[in-house]
Formats: sequence, C-alpha cells, structure tokens
Amino acid sequence: MTESIFDALRESHERQRALCRKLLRSKPHTADRISTFTELRIELAAHAAAEERHLYVPILMDDMGLSPARHALHEHHQMDELIEDLQVSDHSGAAWMARARQLSKKVHHHLREEERKFFQVSGKILDDSIKTRQAKRYRREHARMVRTLQQA
Ligand SMILES: [Fe+2]
Ligand SMILES: [Fe+2]
Repeated sequence: MTESIFDALRESHERQRALCRKLLRSKPHTADRISTFTELRIELAAHAAAEERHLYVPILMDDMGLSPARHALHEHHQMDELIEDLQVSDHSGAAWMARARQLSKKVHHHLREEERKFFQVSGKILDDSIKTRQAKRYRREHARMVRTLQQA
C-alpha cells in the first residue's frame, strides 16, 4: 500500500492532539508536565517544518494553493510564538496553564482547518505520484527535525 502525504501528516496530527490533552491534564510541579511540554514542542516544530517544506512549498506554486499556504504558515508562526511564551522556567502557575490552553485551542483549530480545507485543496493540486513521493520526503524531514531538536 502506498502512503500519501496526507496519511503521514494526519499521523502527526493525532500525536499533537494526544499531547495537548496530556499537557492540559498534567499536574504542576511534575516531571510529566515538563516532558509532555517538551515532546509537544518538538512534535509541533518538526511537523510544521516538514509540512511547510513538503506540502506547502509545492502547493504555493499553484494559484489555488496560495491562500491556504499563506494562512497555514501564519498559524504555524502563531503557534511558535505561543510556544516561546511557554518556554519559561516556571511551568506551574495558572498563567502558564491559561497559555497552554490557548496553544491547545490554536493547535486544534489549525489541524481541523488543514484536514477539512487545506488538504482537500492540496489533493486537487498534487497528483497521486507526487502525494506518494512527498509522503516519503515529509517523513524523512520530520525524523531529521526531531533528532535535531532533541539534541538542541
Ligand atoms: Fe500545519
Ligand atoms: Fe499539519
């Protein structure tokens, strides 16, 4: 069975949703909260980079893809800024949790919009062989980014 890029992207989306849920349920002053946040931070960054390079760059070249690609990259940037706000030494306060909830909302909104709208448009732009080829490229890049971010 050949995998399309959308199957590969959706796999990370599910991981992101699960990590958001886990983070919001985590207790303050626990190692679990810190490690879940780190895992989510790395997954979001690796996914966004690999998705930008192997889905949004190709569709950006098509007139139909211009607006969805811009919109998605803007939201990636917004999530980046929320992550930056959360990168403080104290992860235990109510303000930190309020920010984390804001991030989770943004992540859920973004994933839903990609799955319901942007992937549909992209599906019309890219032909089947490209969808398969980009799945492999996306997976390679995602894995490379995870390794790089874990070492940082
Ligand atoms: Fe995205
Ligand atoms: Fe995505």
